[in-house]
Amino acid sequence: MSRWAFHGHAIVSDDDRIAGPDGLTPESLRNDADWARFQAALDAAAVTILGRLGHEANPNVRGRNRLVLSSGVRDITRRDDAWWWNPAGMPLGEALAIAAPQGGVAVVPGGRLVFDYFLKTGFDQFHLARAAGVSVPGGVPVFSAISSGSTAGQCLAAGGLVADAPEVLDPAADISLTLWRRRA
Ligand SMILES: NC(=O)c1ccc[n+]([C@@H]2O[C@H](COP(=O)([O-])OP(=O)(O)OC[C@H]3O[C@@H](n4cnc5c(N)ncnc54)[C@H](OP(=O)(O)O)[C@@H]3O)[C@@H](O)[C@H]2O)c1
Repeated sequence: MSRWAFHGHAIVSDDDRIAGPDGLTPESLRNDADWARFQAALDAAAVTILGRLGHEANPNVRGRNRLVLSSGVRDITRRDDAWWWNPAGMPLGEALAIAAPQGGVAVVPGGRLVFDYFLKTGFDQFHLARAAGVSVPGGVPVFSAISSGSTAGQCLAAGGLVADAPEVLDPAADISLTLWRRRA
């Protein structure tokens, strides 16, 4: 068994977008119940693995253990705010052996290219929250394949995950959560 379990987390619109055309998370995808759940997952994680833009948009004010994907470094390097890692220069397992040697849960909050990467290497879980009634035309999709007609559910199923029954996170705001788990 791997020393790390990879858990994706995202909140999406009905059209499977995580951010607007400007690359920023719109207010319509911000929800207190989802945020509290997400923060608890980050607090419990051994490491958070995210893309450079998300890291810059959400500075590491709590000093959590972060591994930031960027082509701007050669392999892995320690900076004040995080570990910075280029998958083209060092395999995932080697990077995690440096950034989170104790093992445990690696929370993956995206964005799109990071979700694509872990869909290929294998998620153990994906926590997919959805804001019903919200659409973000021209926004950033949760997975690249959505731009060519797939749904998030189809991408997760193709990545070897199966969905639990959705649970309601916030009835007033119509936010639901579906936990996708690796097929046994
Ligand atoms: N609604 C949600 O749940 C949710 C989830 C995630 C993000 N967001 C929001 O979406 C926005 C950012 O998302 P995004 O998808 O546009 O960008 P992102 O994934 O945060 O950052 C993209 C950058 O990460 C680096 N990167 C990603 N994959 C890489 C790889 N395989 N190899 C090397 N570098 C890699 C590259 O940095 P370099 O350019 O340095 O090479 C790339 O430009 C933010 O506003 C964030 O808050 C929302």
